[in-house]
Amino acid sequence: MLNQTQIGALLHQDHMSTIETLQGLEELLGKHRNTPAVDDDLRFQLKRLARTLKAEVEKHFGFEENHLFPVFVEQGETGIVMMLTHEHRSILPLALQVADIAVAAQEQGFTDETWRNFRDAGGELVEREIFHIQKEEMGLLAAISALVEPEVDARLAETYRQVVG
Ligand SMILES: [Fe+2]
Ligand SMILES: [Fe+2]
Repeated sequence: MLNQTQIGALLHQDHMSTIETLQGLEELLGKHRNTPAVDDDLRFQLKRLARTLKAEVEKHFGFEENHLFPVFVEQGETGIVMMLTHEHRSILPLALQVADIAVAAQEQGFTDETWRNFRDAGGELVEREIFHIQKEEMGLLAAISALVEPEVDARLAETYRQVVG
């Protein structure tokens, strides 16, 4: 990418690992036609899924909304900020719902009903979040390269390391 920024590179890395998590979820959903028994293997997968989903949406979205988007708003770029924030609002509750069902299933297993909810919410989450990431990869990263000055970039990268890790 032209004129790569530090913060653009950090967000990109995060997007790639989220896509990996979502692909893992999609694979898990595709593998089981009927309600699966939760064995050690599946329990481990559910645990990891719940942890990464929560961290990724809460920290990553929080960073974008609290630290990155204000830089855009200051420069009058409100359209992209409104659109992406709106998408966050539709993804976050779904991600938390999937994570909550995964946590409950680690302890109690799935019932037909909780598996159906997990499958429906999980499938919807995969679709919405991959679409959102693709949009950010195409539009947001280019806008960062064009709009964010080097000293602001350095400050954002520093903040990112503190709040996201
Ligand atoms: Fe985002
Ligand atoms: Fe993002």
